[in-house]
Amino acid sequence: MSKTALITGIAGQDGSYLTELLLENGYDVHGIDRRSSLFNRRRIEEARENARRRGQVFELYYGDMSDSSNLYRRIISCKPTEIYNFASQSHVAISFEEPEHTTDVNANGTLRLLEAARHFAADGCRFYQASTSEMFGDAPHSPQTENTPFHPRSPYGVAKLYAYWIVRNYREHYGLHACNGILYNHESPRRGENFVTRKITYSLARIKKGLQDTLMLGNLDNRRDWGFAGDYVRAMWLMLNQDAADDYVIATGQTHTVREFVEKACETAGIGIAWEGEGAGEKGRDTRTGKTIVEVSKKFFRPAEKTVLCGDAKKAREKLGWKPEIDFDGLVELMMKCDLDSV
Ligand code: GDD
Repeated sequence: MSKTALITGIAGQDGSYLTELLLENGYDVHGIDRRSSLFNRRRIEEARENARRRGQVFELYYGDMSDSSNLYRRIISCKPTEIYNFASQSHVAISFEEPEHTTDVNANGTLRLLEAARHFAADGCRFYQASTSEMFGDAPHSPQTENTPFHPRSPYGVAKLYAYWIVRNYREHYGLHACNGILYNHESPRRGENFVTRKITYSLARIKKGLQDTLMLGNLDNRRDWGFAGDYVRAMWLMLNQDAADDYVIATGQTHTVREFVEKACETAGIGIAWEGEGAGEKGRDTRTGKTIVEVSKKFFRPAEKTVLCGDAKKAREKLGWKPEIDFDGLVELMMKCDLDSV
């Protein structure tokens, strides 16, 4: 049977990597993308061109997770065998500014898509939900596994936790093959510029080329378990290709601070950096020019994190045979080099 995937949020980082993986594996791909005043499909342009040359089905539609009739029409028209739900208001800090919108898209939007899938997708259709380590928040321990109790700390995390549970309920109640991928931070040269990793590499590339003076950051000592998005979409696909639906933590199991990310990015860019001061007064100076290139700003500070978000992906390693191919140094180098080339 030919395989047909429907991807919501297809124009984002994960949507673009997954599209490439699925097209390479012979899928027909249909994607839903939110209309915005600026055209935002640059991440999937190459995949679209390649699909056109190979004569593969790759269709894009405007749609929104707040619009049920749109989701119903899409599923009726393309009859997917796999659905990947990436559409989301995905910025944790912005979810405090837009709590209702975040809840509508991330929580109710997932419910709308599940209902549409339950009624109109192909028989046996499989469903992937982009769940997140942010559901653990103030977890009681680190590293976290699939059995760690949740304690989200943001409107984003709470909305994603609703989505996680409604997906599990549709699996348990209706027998839908629906999986939650509990993904830790995953990055790439295609990451949005307001997430910290890309903000760092993009800004340092601009500083190196004389287009920007300083990079403003929040908590330098916050830690994250950062992996490569291309590795993580492979895990999603493996989940939907198991006989039984289940939930999996996807992570590297190693954490680094924002400061370490800056230092590794500077090293790759050939910039020497020396830190001075403390807390909101801390600065990073270019050791060659003496200029301040990194400043700490209260604007980007988030409340202190009690628990380190670090994932234990043992279950995914054992059941899916998944492991990440790119480590922290490789990831920072990849992102920094891409930004140096493109800025
Ligand atoms: N964005 C941002 N900007 N974060 C900063 C900054 C800054 O200037 N300075 C320090 N940070 C710190 C944040 O406080 C946080 O501890 C860490 O850098 C990572 O922040 P983000 O890159 O914004 O990612 P996130 O961890 O909040 O959330 C991302 O990962 C989750 C887990 O996969 C997002 O992709 C979420 O959608 C995703 O669920």
